[in-house]
Amino acid sequence: MTADPTYRGFALDAETALALLQWQAELGADEPCLDAPLDRYDQPERAEPVPTPAAPAPNPPDTALDLAAQAEAMAATATSLAELAAAQEAFDGIELKKGARNFCFADGNPAARVMVIGEAPGEEEDNQGRPFVGRAGQLLDRMFAAIGLSREAVDAEKALYITNVLTWRPPGNRRPEPAEIAVMLPFLRRHVELAQPEILVLMGNTPCMAALNRQGILKLRGTWTEAFGLPALPMTHPSYLLRTPAAKREAWADLLSLAARLDGQG
Ligand code: URA
Repeated sequence: MTADPTYRGFALDAETALALLQWQAELGADEPCLDAPLDRYDQPERAEPVPTPAAPAPNPPDTALDLAAQAEAMAATATSLAELAAAQEAFDGIELKKGARNFCFADGNPAARVMVIGEAPGEEEDNQGRPFVGRAGQLLDRMFAAIGLSREAVDAEKALYITNVLTWRPPGNRRPEPAEIAVMLPFLRRHVELAQPEILVLMGNTPCMAALNRQGILKLRGTWTEAFGLPALPMTHPSYLLRTPAAKREAWADLLSLAARLDGQG
């Protein structure tokens, strides 16, 4: 047997060395080891891995606040009602636009002393692209005709200008949601600024919510208030009057109050 002085003083021949190796392999030693022990606590420090920069967060979805700011910026560029209508129609920040047939901006005479603000287009308004042309609109026309005002009048003294808080029809005529009102409010505010009426009539809860941040039309109706810096009269909506004919009495009182105000007596 040939001694091998290099292995820790033991004499090893090739056969013994191979047998030892096989024995170690059977014990599970499947990696070669170093000759000398390795003190793993005494190793040079490894450099910390450089963190890879985090990918930029995706843009959060547009919130009602962002969209209202976009609406505000677009409305501010309009210097005429025609420009405002074009800007508002082009505004894509409202889902209702996708489901509506027609953009419904305003009707009547923009020179009118009185501007009526309703809620939103219904089916007939959506078909025609004009506010208040369905059953409720026909009642509205009769109500104002009773105090000598009409959307067809050329004379500003006798005229009416009509719009809605929303210019696109909500599906199934559901009530506008607060976020929808908030997003479209800058357009409505600019609409009033550009039309420059003397008096606003707020027809129902939705325009009261938009212009006064208040609800409860049955309490608000008939009491003069201020909206967008103008005298404003909340009234019950003609749709409500169609369902509740007994409420027409109070609506008539409100119309008389409006007529008196226009005559400088209110
Ligand atoms: N109701 C409204 O508030 N506006 C319309 O244009 C039609 C019905």
